[in-house]
Amino acid sequence: MKQKSKIFKGKTLAILSGGGDTPAINSSIESIKNRASLLGFKVYGIRQGWKGLLGNGDIVDLSNQAYNGWYGGTALRSSRTNPFPSKKNPENRVPQILQNLKRYKIDVLVTIGGDDTNGAAKRLYETEGIPVIGFPKTIDNDLRTRTMHYYKGKEIEAVLCPGFPSAARAITEFTANIKTTAESHSRIIVLEVMGRNAGWLTGTAIFGSADMALVPEFEITKERKDFFLETVKEAYMDSKKKTLIIPVSEGVRWYDDISGKVDVVYASSEVDEYGHPRFGGISGVIASEISNKLGIEARAQITGYYARAGTCRKYDRRLTETLADKVVDLLLREDYGQMPVMKKIVSFPELEEYNTTSIDMGDIGNRPLPDVYYDVEKFRFTDAYIDFLSKILKRQRYEDFEYDFPVVIP
Ligand code: F6P
Repeated sequence: MKQKSKIFKGKTLAILSGGGDTPAINSSIESIKNRASLLGFKVYGIRQGWKGLLGNGDIVDLSNQAYNGWYGGTALRSSRTNPFPSKKNPENRVPQILQNLKRYKIDVLVTIGGDDTNGAAKRLYETEGIPVIGFPKTIDNDLRTRTMHYYKGKEIEAVLCPGFPSAARAITEFTANIKTTAESHSRIIVLEVMGRNAGWLTGTAIFGSADMALVPEFEITKERKDFFLETVKEAYMDSKKKTLIIPVSEGVRWYDDISGKVDVVYASSEVDEYGHPRFGGISGVIASEISNKLGIEARAQITGYYARAGTCRKYDRRLTETLADKVVDLLLREDYGQMPVMKKIVSFPELEEYNTTSIDMGDIGNRPLPDVYYDVEKFRFTDAYIDFLSKILKRQRYEDFEYDFPVVIP
């Protein structure tokens, strides 16, 4: 039988990943690469994000190469290079990028990234007509995907980004483990969680036994701080084992008694090429205020890169495969300037192409934690958030030892 040639034979698709890594990027790359190959594309990988399109280019051929999508991080490596002029780098790199896209004969570009990488891709699509498809990625889960969460008759605009489910699992495990140490010493542990200006990831600690939490979306003014400390004291006293784990987002805005201002704690004065500062250290500030003001022993723990390191988890694996199925649809229709997303928050078995759609990359941006997911009065995530999370993550079955020994009286 005569074989028909594949539809995109002779064309080249290139993939790049930019911004902070996640455990699900290799899975995204593998899923896109395999599907694009079946359509006939030659598949290239651009190394270190936009940086790989500067100078002479840093491009590898992924066609017919084995790829391990379970392995965390990104084998294409990443950078926070911005193609457009920024304060940190005033040079316009677009001409170099266009030249390399031409030199390497790249017909379609798939950019795996958050708001920054995909925002730059969208500008290249709009201003230069480069055929791009954006692919979502971030552990922060703050990239607007317009994914709806249906809860008790309400429609909540949630977010579902590859990388978040694996990071969520890592944070619940971390919290569940730290619990035994907190209990042994009757301490409060203030657990700092990445996520920039959004508290999506911080909430996942509640599946690992945490209780109260602080998120960047609701600032801690002087009055709120006093109320928070009172609430902490009460919760600690009420706890059976005299212990508490309080997850706090790295981007929490906290009232500083000395300066009299509400601000975040910065890890350094540096900003990246997209103008983002680095946060870090708020947990230490909060733990020491708890110790000093309440007289309860408190310690800070920074979960840091643990959230985004290591193996891709099952939900993320299937999520990236499903979104890559949607990429096939976009490629077949030559519908560029789009990003595949899930239409609604679904559990693992429902991660299927029919539950996907795509959004115009012009509509992407940041989506903070919706108000309905956090109870400001109680400093707790709500049942609506728990319902959102339980679709993505099974509750961690952490060890518990309900000891209650009789006290000996001499
Ligand atoms: O955006 C992902 C993220 O991990 C944030 O949660 C965090 O603030 C930032 O990246 C840290 O970036 P870096 O890789 O520069 O340390």
